Amino acid sequence: MPKKLAAGNWKMNGTSASQTEVTALCGGIEQVSCDVLLCPPATLVAPMASWAAGSTLSVGGQDCHANATGAHTGDISAPMLADAGASHVILGHSERRADHGETDDLVRAKTQAAHAAGLIAVVCVGETEEERDAGRALDVVGAQIAGSLPGGVTGANTVIAYEPVWAIGTGRTPTLDQIGEMHDFMRDVLARQLGDQGRELRLLYGGSVKPGNAAEIFAVPNVDGALVGGASLRAADFLGIIRALDAA
Ligand code: 13P
Repeated sequence: MPKKLAAGNWKMNGTSASQTEVTALCGGIEQVSCDVLLCPPATLVAPMASWAAGSTLSVGGQDCHANATGAHTGDISAPMLADAGASHVILGHSERRADHGETDDLVRAKTQAAHAAGLIAVVCVGETEEERDAGRALDVVGAQIAGSLPGGVTGANTVIAYEPVWAIGTGRTPTLDQIGEMHDFMRDVLARQLGDQGRELRLLYGGSVKPGNAAEIFAVPNVDGALVGGASLRAADFLGIIRALDAA
């Protein structure tokens, strides 16, 4: 069984004033056995890594460029994230696929760059509401997994996050059957593609996970944790989700 992971994606939220929440989170996870990760905006990666020093909290980026250095104004590379204290990086989030036109090919190149820098890639996939209504959710996610993962993927260097686009920030979640169907499907696809390593990859669910619905989601087979947006911003909320994961 892969070790469970509670990951928080702060998106474009957080400043130096966020230190109190991070300190509270670090204190709250002392007795917790699952892995806990926070991915703040790039400006906070280095400060958060120092706030988290001595705790079990891991820190990650939310994106990286596919190249290690070069003339790419405004971009940040995987080695730079590692240098700032990150151990993980979220890649291919649906907000980046939508806002920045990121394709599976680009996500694959970025994932390769993350691996080369020693970072664990949290690769996001998920269908739109239109695609689900058209009965295409499994096909879409299967194609995203096939297109977004480079060679050399292992359970140690990659995590997959299933985030249905229509469930992000909306308070709506798929039924537990729908989550179970998708996670079983992803497990099958990965096991076929990667053999034993495909069984080791952590499969996170993301999209309106809250303390109140976390336990039932974590009871679904092949759900190895969550990628949490809004509810990861406050330590008290995120700790509620982390405790539910630990108890699952
Ligand atoms: P919410 O938890 O706010 O729905 O966001 C989910 C998400 O996009 C995490 O990456």
